[in-house]
Amino acid sequence: MKFGTFDDTRKEYVINTPKTPYPWINYLGNEQFFGLISNTAGGYTFYRDARLRRLTRYRYNNIPLDTGGRYYYLYDDGDFWTPGWMPVKRDLDFYECRHGLGYTSITGERNGISVNQLAFVPMGHNAEVHRLVVKNTGSAKKSVKLFSFAEFCLWNAQDDMTNFQRNLSTGEVEVKDSVIYHKTEYRERRNHYAFYSVNKEIAGFDTDREAFVGMYNGLESPQAVVAGEPTNSVASGWSPIGSHALNITLEPGEEQSFIFVLGYIENPEEDKWESLNVINKKPAEAMIAQFATDAQVDAALAALAAHWDNLLSKYQIQSGDEKLDRMVNIWNPYQCMVTFNMSRSASYFESGIGRGMGFRDSNQDLLGFVHQIPERAKERILDIAATQFEDGSAYHQYQPLTKKGNNEVGTGFNDDPLWLILGTAAYIKETGDTSILDEQVPFDSNPDNTATLFEHLKRSFEHVTNNLGPHGLPLIGRADWNDCLNLNCFSTEPGESFQTTANIEGRVAESVFIAGLFVFVGPDYAEICRMRGLNDVAVDAEAKIDNMKEITLTHGFDGDWFLRAYDHYGDKIGSNENEEGKIFIEPQGICVMAGIGVEDGQAEKALSSVQEHLDTDYGIVLQQPPYSKYYLNLGEISTYPPGYKENAGIFCHNNPWIMIAETVLGHGDRAFEIYAKIAPAYLEDISEIHRTEPYVYSQMIAGKDAVRHGEAKNSWLTGTAAWNYVAITQSILGIQADFNGLKIDPCIPSAWDSFEITRVFRGDTYVIQIKNPNHVSKGVASLTLDGVAVEGNIIAPVGDGAVHQVVVELG
Ligand code: GLC
Ligand code: GLC
Repeated sequence: MKFGTFDDTRKEYVINTPKTPYPWINYLGNEQFFGLISNTAGGYTFYRDARLRRLTRYRYNNIPLDTGGRYYYLYDDGDFWTPGWMPVKRDLDFYECRHGLGYTSITGERNGISVNQLAFVPMGHNAEVHRLVVKNTGSAKKSVKLFSFAEFCLWNAQDDMTNFQRNLSTGEVEVKDSVIYHKTEYRERRNHYAFYSVNKEIAGFDTDREAFVGMYNGLESPQAVVAGEPTNSVASGWSPIGSHALNITLEPGEEQSFIFVLGYIENPEEDKWESLNVINKKPAEAMIAQFATDAQVDAALAALAAHWDNLLSKYQIQSGDEKLDRMVNIWNPYQCMVTFNMSRSASYFESGIGRGMGFRDSNQDLLGFVHQIPERAKERILDIAATQFEDGSAYHQYQPLTKKGNNEVGTGFNDDPLWLILGTAAYIKETGDTSILDEQVPFDSNPDNTATLFEHLKRSFEHVTNNLGPHGLPLIGRADWNDCLNLNCFSTEPGESFQTTANIEGRVAESVFIAGLFVFVGPDYAEICRMRGLNDVAVDAEAKIDNMKEITLTHGFDGDWFLRAYDHYGDKIGSNENEEGKIFIEPQGICVMAGIGVEDGQAEKALSSVQEHLDTDYGIVLQQPPYSKYYLNLGEISTYPPGYKENAGIFCHNNPWIMIAETVLGHGDRAFEIYAKIAPAYLEDISEIHRTEPYVYSQMIAGKDAVRHGEAKNSWLTGTAAWNYVAITQSILGIQADFNGLKIDPCIPSAWDSFEITRVFRGDTYVIQIKNPNHVSKGVASLTLDGVAVEGNIIAPVGDGAVHQVVVELG
């Protein structure tokens, strides 16, 4: 069942009922200021850090689920309603939500009044702009009232939800003309405030939540709206809100627009005040003046659209399959940008207070993003590297506001260092800019202890070779990519975090996954060494990589598939010998991607075993059989009921590894089959089962052992976005940035006849036509660049900034 449709021309998903199976959300903001907005106008906003600089409140896992947001109540002669249906839930004669790239537009109509609510964050501003267009669609003159509503968060979202003995006494606001200023804690150490303005004269306002909502009411029937009268309350402690009241008179057919700005201002210490306890409002007034007219709002929207057109223009496909085109051209890169911006911090599943930027996550997120804005990828790489320790290990996460490693989440995930090599290599391949390697980067954020980025990569590589276990495989540490395979943890304390609790330093538990990852990224490291003239280092690295390959085949292969690990006692995990958890997806993917066992058939066996044991109609599950009870020696993986999350859920992040692995073996049909199983646009028709947004990937789909097989959770913030983007654009469609040029190496379903890709690479535009007259899956038979035959399948950068025609024939 569908709950909307794709509008590819406008790059929007159009939702035609507020009652989606789960709130279907969008992200606003591209730079420093962000918002989450659902199809019923729920959600919240923050500046840079969803934990430390939250502007508006949101109550996760609320009843009803998605309550709290940007609500505009239309009061019409005793009747009142909201265009997004929630929270009032009054029947609407018309409802539509259009989620676009960086904006959301919601329209509701009732009793001859239509209200369109548009929300976006303009480029270059720390604010959300909301334009409300109220139209009289009936035949009689109407007098109505509009009430806005936003509930302020007292900045630190964690503290705001817990520290009530203090927070119920600190709230402060100012109101001047049509602008409400939220200034809690500005009197002391904060130098920032929020404001909420409207570009028209108001009939009144409210800033005290209780005065507006009422002690015994909810947001479905705020007392001031019920009465149709604002109370002009000025908050003092308790919960500050912003609500403007506007009187509107409309002739039949007439419409009026109202522009609200919900913004964030920082003042320099010496310029904080206008007079005693009166905040300096000049910067707010300047920003408000930029959005005083519809023409200004239209121009800001056009700038946002141009920003996105430019980003998306870097890779565009025309394949004839509209689902594939909309994933590759619009929604997958869009989600990649969001994961790049948010990491795993704030979604409808991530509370915005638990997790900052992940070391491994952000490096992987880069892969889906680096071609869009390489400068920002560079900045991110340097930020991440600065949280690395001298021995090459790393903080697992850091806070985006402070850019400091997060002690609460700890260290010791032994795969972390390697992802830095992968992220950096992706940046250099895309840009050709090797100067990044010479940047001085701190260890543990200490500016007095720095080394070049190259030195950081070296420590990353050596962190693996310095930490090998009894079989010569890498020690797993706290965990590898699978946060929940905690082989040194042995936790018996209820509720204790598996990721942060003290581990036993056994130096026995080893990871075949890290071995595969080492072999996969190692050659990039060796190549980078060569580029720096460090031949000896490169040769030494290559010997270590070859050795790891050998060891993986000797001690990491179980007969029909790759083993997952050795535990604290040296016993096998992910082996046919195990009763549960016999086969895991991760090592099959990464080892074959690394080319391990390709020559002697182990790779073929591993992927057939995946198909035989792990495949389902909705994607490939993480392992089989699921763990039916808690295993002290395995940790969190065995805490989930069978079929969910890491315990045999379809953990979408690693499905593309199997797609890529299949392309390594030339299996284009199978690779695309797996792609289409989890690509959201292909799941639109089963939205009642899948439940999350049909335009973005989710972290997990419940596996075959789960009660709710096929149901997705944790949409938006997942490495799935970047890896699927890599799998489809680079491995299946076959356009890969490489150190010395653009490599063309598709691996497609043999039935495909042809497709065309436009790829901007190092300043040139390549229009690449790929023809498949002989219906093969893989193999470039010929390649021409502007009509001239090219030897091999790598196009050396032309470098003239022009458009170049590439014709490729497979065969
Ligand atoms: C989550 C984490 C990611 C981890 C994965 C598997 O998605 O963000 O870092 O690799 O779970 O446990
Ligand atoms: C839990 C989740 C896992 C996530 C981790 C992050 O273990 O199952 O997916 O990576 O938390 O802290």
